Amino acid sequence: MYYSDDVVEEVRSRNDIVDIVSGYVKLQKKGSSYFGLCPFHHEKSPSFSVSPNKQMYYCFGCGAGGNVITFLMEYENYTFPEALKVLADRAGIELPKQEMSKEARAQADLKMTLLEINKLAANYFHHQLKQPQGSAGYEYLSKRCLSDDTIRHFGLGYSNKTSDDLYRYLKGKGYSDGILKESGLFTISERGTWDKFWNRVMFPIMDTNNRVIGFGGRVMGDGEPKYLNSPETKLFDKSRNLYGLNFARSTREKYFLICEGYMDVIAMHQAGFTNAVASLGTAFTTQHASLLKRYTGQVVLTYDSDDAGVKAALRAIPILKEAGISCKVLNMKPYKDPDEFIKNQGADAFRKRIEEARNSFLFEIDVLKRGYDLEDPEQKTNFHTAVAKKLLEFPDALERDNYMQAVSREQFINYQDLKQLVSRTAARLGPAWAETRRSAAGYADPAGEASASGAGDGGTREGAFYERRGSFGTDGGTRQRKREKEDGAKQSQRLLLTWLIEDPRLFDKIRGIITPDDFKEELYHTVAQMVFDGHESGNLSPAGILNHFINDETQYKEVAALFNASLKDSLGSEEQKKAFSETVIKVRKNSLDEASRTAADIGQLQEIIRARSALKTLHISLD
Ligand code: UTP
Ligand code: MN
Repeated sequence: MYYSDDVVEEVRSRNDIVDIVSGYVKLQKKGSSYFGLCPFHHEKSPSFSVSPNKQMYYCFGCGAGGNVITFLMEYENYTFPEALKVLADRAGIELPKQEMSKEARAQADLKMTLLEINKLAANYFHHQLKQPQGSAGYEYLSKRCLSDDTIRHFGLGYSNKTSDDLYRYLKGKGYSDGILKESGLFTISERGTWDKFWNRVMFPIMDTNNRVIGFGGRVMGDGEPKYLNSPETKLFDKSRNLYGLNFARSTREKYFLICEGYMDVIAMHQAGFTNAVASLGTAFTTQHASLLKRYTGQVVLTYDSDDAGVKAALRAIPILKEAGISCKVLNMKPYKDPDEFIKNQGADAFRKRIEEARNSFLFEIDVLKRGYDLEDPEQKTNFHTAVAKKLLEFPDALERDNYMQAVSREQFINYQDLKQLVSRTAARLGPAWAETRRSAAGYADPAGEASASGAGDGGTREGAFYERRGSFGTDGGTRQRKREKEDGAKQSQRLLLTWLIEDPRLFDKIRGIITPDDFKEELYHTVAQMVFDGHESGNLSPAGILNHFINDETQYKEVAALFNASLKDSLGSEEQKKAFSETVIKVRKNSLDEASRTAADIGQLQEIIRARSALKTLHISLD
């Protein structure tokens, strides 16, 4: 069901956020906001805030944030229309029955219908498991030591041997072929429509709100493919979902466990490690990392102990580091994966392995070492040089030194000698080195196979695994600088938006200098336009703006974070005043820089040059 912006905004504004949230969370007033224990992650001291002025909630601990509608969606696992209905009823608002053309509504309904279909399919598969025709599935799962509780908890199921069972079931519920095709659950050919999954045990994949967005199906026994997975659909984006996160998000642990597969997650949860998630056979992506970052700053990698698992770990480590997540690697040997380990050694032994998990840098050195024959003096020297090169990844001298100490201790390399080697290597390579090395290795393609070639062929594989680093060299290289500049620009735009929301009087100060078009980040630009429009019309409502992003969890959380960033001080201090002025100039300057890159003619370019030099003398006074 689609509702117009006006209807949504009316429902939202007629339900006070403090009223609603205090029905679920015990809140205490502190200054202009209310605080309580966050219902979206486990914590002992309150970092969950509710602002009556902004009509928003925000958790400084886990980053959950939004307005009254998203609160119900997250807390109650409601879909958007469900949440809207509850709030409309509560405020005595009658929702309009139909507002749009059939086509437009169909489009808006598509995602919801797909969720419905997935939910029905999951229930159907689960039901089969307890039927006579599903006994093979049930026996298979039992044989793999899954309890009835675990099977229920993860909603596991069985797809029948008949190859159009689910199709007929869903047709019976009135769904059209068109929509069923979009669900990714069927194969459609000239000869007819068939279930994609048959005679497999089924693993529903859920998003963080416990909504089924796809499936994996495992053959019982040997057979290819071992796991069949839903294709990407309007609901299912593999690089943005982690299996098990719907449960792991409320763990009491500070860290998360990352593993490869369905069975590993399930085995770990069953053994009490409810902080385990999996990226499901696909490479771990930056999107996965930023998703995780909402919940934790620490992970332990529990990938398989084979070559593929080592490779996966080496790929994930820099991605995690770049997202600001510190990471350790668990030694699974002699077992293949967490499932097998726990089955053989039990939960206590596994917990011990977690405690002993290896620092990710030292793990990388361990792997590096395997490529050299240390009996041979030449190869040993090459190994030392490779270690020195790798140590240069740490841009911070003190941190680098700590690692030099650890490495010299562990690898029996004289500390002073290692230190010298690192300095000489840095001088020899120079800043341009990292750049050429990375582009030669195809750094731009994180899923590429370039790093695989060295995996097991004896010879000198110096750097074979290591081509994909984020920051090589003492000075970091040009790529690094470019990224820092981009981050800086993004940060300034973000800060400026936050300030404008906090203190609308600032609009007067930037009039004639900044327009929404100066916000070059796509999302910030959209938000800035709404913020400026809102200010212009005299009703700037953060919670109202958020309505526009409700269908995209990643976006509404980012916007909520933007509207709730904690500014250390208000713009009272001299330092803050200076920071504001500098931020305005940075945003404008970045916007002019971009404009100069795309300038169509000399006239435009001259315009930009004029604007740039005007910026040099600009000073914004807040007094
Ligand atoms: P594994 O082959 O390690 O499987 O693949 P597993 O998790 O140990 O499974 P069991 O214990 O043999 O049942 C790890 C993950 O890679 C993906 C799946 O997500 C799997 O859990 N995968 C693997 C596929 O998607 N398709 C495949 O054919 C194989
Ligand atoms: Mn495995």
